[in-house]
Amino acid sequence: MLILKNVHKSFDSVSVLNGINLHLERGVVYTLRGDNGSGKTTLFNIISGFLRPTSGTICLKGKEIGNTSPYQINRLGIGRTFQDLRLATQMTVRENILAAMENGLFAFPSKTQKERVDKVLEQVALDGKADELAGEISYGQQKLLTLGCCIANNADLLLIDEPVAGIDKTNFFKIINVVMEMKKSGKTVFQIEHHPDYVRDTSDTVVIMERGRIVC
Ligand SMILES: Nc1ncnc2c1ncn2[C@@H]1O[C@H](COP(=O)(O)OP(=O)(O)OP(=O)(O)O)[C@@H](O)[C@H]1O
Ligand SMILES: [Mg+2]
Repeated sequence: MLILKNVHKSFDSVSVLNGINLHLERGVVYTLRGDNGSGKTTLFNIISGFLRPTSGTICLKGKEIGNTSPYQINRLGIGRTFQDLRLATQMTVRENILAAMENGLFAFPSKTQKERVDKVLEQVALDGKADELAGEISYGQQKLLTLGCCIANNADLLLIDEPVAGIDKTNFFKIINVVMEMKKSGKTVFQIEHHPDYVRDTSDTVVIMERGRIVC
């Protein structure tokens, strides 16, 4: 569903991605590992349109997306989370989920949308937190909320940046369940994570990055 060919990214004269070739198939969970600074988040920023590649091609379902805005890329089916969460902390948990849905931010929510929000809240085990401010729930719950936003957004390729970094044991297992449910529902997951138990329990394929190159 996603094919990258010889993708390079430089910031001024510093080369961060050095010829990435990647082919992601539908319904598979891929885990990207690599040292700090090896270029993992930069690769996610390129795929999701937050950065433009310096050269190379990126094709989603046969369509070149290397020069497409993040919003349009999202509408074509790529959703993402951020390493630094980026939730709307002054909005409630429910409102964050609603805002991630198509037209959820600007239109008055329909009955169907409200039901869908409730379903997503259940899926990420936050149904008891729906009316709390996103900035006031625990860090692990915030991580779950970012995954809920990703589900609500209805993309079919999900880029998830370090889902379990720094979280407690209870939420760790909840996040494993959420990602396994994503796979069951036919999503393709491309995640960055280092935690060995998490990588073992969730991954179909592990991809290793070293200094801006995929080495296996
Ligand atoms: N917008 C930018 N401008 C300049 N340099 C950048 C920019 N974004 C990333 N870099 C640099 O690119 C390199 C790779 O950063 P990146 O965030 O992709 O690494 P990472 O593999 O995700 O690391 P970590 O495991 O710490 O999250 C780093 O040296 C970083 O400083
Ligand atoms: Mg990173």
